[in-house]
Amino acid sequence: MFNDKSILITGGTGSFGRQFIKTLVARYHPKKIIVFSRDELKQFEMQQEFNQGFMRYFIGDVRDAERIRLACKGVDFIVHAAALKQVPAAEYNPMECIKTNVNGAENVIQAAIANKVMKVIALSTDKAANPVNLYGATKLCSDKLFVAANNIVGEKHPRFSVVRYGNVVGSRGSVVPFFRKLVAQGSNELPITDPLMTRFWISLQDGVDLVLKSFNRMHGGEIFVPKIPSVRIVDLAEAIAPGLTKKIIGIRPGEKLHEKMVPRDDCYRTIEFKDHFVIKPCIKFSDVEVDYTRNMLGETGKPMEYGFSYCSENNPDFLSVEQIREMHEELQL
Ligand SMILES: NC(=O)c1ccc[n+]([C@@H]2O[C@H](COP(=O)([O-])OP(=O)(O)OC[C@H]3O[C@@H](n4cnc5c(N)ncnc54)[C@H](OP(=O)(O)O)[C@@H]3O)[C@@H](O)[C@H]2O)c1
Repeated sequence: MFNDKSILITGGTGSFGRQFIKTLVARYHPKKIIVFSRDELKQFEMQQEFNQGFMRYFIGDVRDAERIRLACKGVDFIVHAAALKQVPAAEYNPMECIKTNVNGAENVIQAAIANKVMKVIALSTDKAANPVNLYGATKLCSDKLFVAANNIVGEKHPRFSVVRYGNVVGSRGSVVPFFRKLVAQGSNELPITDPLMTRFWISLQDGVDLVLKSFNRMHGGEIFVPKIPSVRIVDLAEAIAPGLTKKIIGIRPGEKLHEKMVPRDDCYRTIEFKDHFVIKPCIKFSDVEVDYTRNMLGETGKPMEYGFSYCSENNPDFLSVEQIREMHEELQL
């Protein structure tokens, strides 16, 4: 699908972007890969590693509609990964988060339409499902913009879909590097917000593979949700530092005890496939009738029953302390 095609990744210098590009380069022969982000240093450092002739580096801000429109010239596929994603920063700087995550999303959509891009996938997060913090609320707005964009273009291109997943193990600013740092500094305890807290758990590579597969599966308008395991935060601490004291510090502003990927309110729009769920759009597109129970790869799914929700707390798949440890070893965290 990506051979001889031009792919633009907003936020291409981030954790996801780098792994996505590494995978694209290893598996395909793209015509052009365009990295779109703001910070010249991150791009400079990335150029040392990814310096192939098909790589292009575009300094730009998704808030700048003209710049992103220019960057999308001749592009076939877009992955929209650029975001402000730190929960506390979003609470303290709400308009900054809205400008990047909401206005930026709309600019990406308009740029894709203006340049007749084929397909666009936007990354979402479990925090966008029944959001309680501003970060999650902006990502929900972004999801809604991408889903509704399919209605603007009718049957034609581009098609827009969303991929939603949970905590990426070991990503920048996340709990694993934080715990590891405390252990390395000789701390005699690890802070735990709540002994009951659970989170969805996905590796960066699984996130990348999911996005790649979703390009093949998508009709446009779906939110793809992978079936992934959950972890208990106390088990995570135990896996990283066996026997170390766990100090309960209480849940922080904007945090949930458990995360949701499919809220109960969306159950009647959810279809279960073998390794993922699809949340159908809540609006009907005027020019196109889609049967979301059969995807573009011909895989079929079945509608979920009333009352279903996919929550890190009621997940049938939990990692044990030993499995978390094995996963960290495999990922060299
Ligand atoms: N990490 C997770 O646990 C997780 C979980 C679920 C979903 N997600 C979603 O996955 C996506 C990627 O996350 P990540 O972990 O790769 O984040 P990341 O490592 O923080 O990378 C974010 C990227 O976005 C760029 N960026 C930020 N603001 C921008 C702007 N206004 N214009 C252009 N580029 C901008 C950053 O580069 P510059 O600073 O140089 O601009 C960077 O390249 C995000 O949409 C996030 O919401 C992440």
